[in-house]
Amino acid sequence: MLHRPRILRKANSIREMVSETNFQASNFLLPIFIDEGNKIQSEIPSMPGIFRWSLDLLEKELESVLNLGIRSVLLFAKVPDKLKNESCKEAINPEGLLPKSIRFIKEKFPEMIVMSDVALDPYSPYGHDGLVKDGKILNDETVEILSMMSEVHAEAGADFVAPSDMMDGRILAIRNTLEKNHLTETGILSYSAKYASCLYGPFRDALDSAPGFGDKKSYQMNPANRLEAIKEVQMDVNEGADIVMVKPAGFYLDIIREVKDAIHVPVAAYQVSGEYAMIKASAANGWLNEESAVIESLLSIKRAGADIIATYYAKKAAELLRKSK
Ligand code: PBG
Repeated sequence: MLHRPRILRKANSIREMVSETNFQASNFLLPIFIDEGNKIQSEIPSMPGIFRWSLDLLEKELESVLNLGIRSVLLFAKVPDKLKNESCKEAINPEGLLPKSIRFIKEKFPEMIVMSDVALDPYSPYGHDGLVKDGKILNDETVEILSMMSEVHAEAGADFVAPSDMMDGRILAIRNTLEKNHLTETGILSYSAKYASCLYGPFRDALDSAPGFGDKKSYQMNPANRLEAIKEVQMDVNEGADIVMVKPAGFYLDIIREVKDAIHVPVAAYQVSGEYAMIKASAANGWLNEESAVIESLLSIKRAGADIIATYYAKKAAELLRKSK
């Protein structure tokens, strides 16, 4: 034999020396659900271990997040039914829960990178990411309100706005709005290749945002498509996105790799609520070892080409990384 590949697997020290993929806590982006009120830490039934937080309790939680070396959060607001309406105008209220949360976090933890979700589903009585008319999702009217929403978040101090809606032309419109308003320090993390996936179910439980009619297939991508993902990310880079994202992550590792090879901006991938729930549920049944599944799933996403990983497992993974040191 000329080659015995097992030599490089002989001992842990050798395996680590030749390891091709590594990740650290600073690669993680932790999604956070925020609720109006006080003293709220309510667990999401389909996402055991993940909570909706009121701002007063979030402060302590974020201290422990930072202590673990996680330095960026992605904020989502749970909007009460009474504030949802067809015009989705709560989305552009400067005193709304999301702008308030951005200001709160940037004031308490200036070093935390705060990213904010930009889409209309939490504000829409229909649970759709865009404005609805006659059962259709309006593109250009939605883009207009998303641009205003981005401006509000940027004014509140968001480091990045993160449009997750998949309307056409929104990155260009958001970039222009930020420029026009001299908000030149705010970045755009675009959900560029977001698929119409079954894996968002637990998230929609968390925000009570399941679509009231139909599905999201007229704006989110067909899971069968690959070339379309490249087109979407290229468009977003051309329109001014600083970071592009592929979502979900685990079922779409091929897409992450192709995107990484095709463009020259940082690539993020979102290990979504359903991916979290799958691991949790099998671990709860004793069918998988949770810690191993967490590390292997995240390592695979990184290996596929993601520079940044949005994951509900950020804290757990950071703890495991710390233990292994
Ligand atoms: C909606 C949005 C969704 C997620 C992030 N932003 C759900 C959807 O598109 O219906 C899903 C995240 C997850 O499942 O963890 N703008």
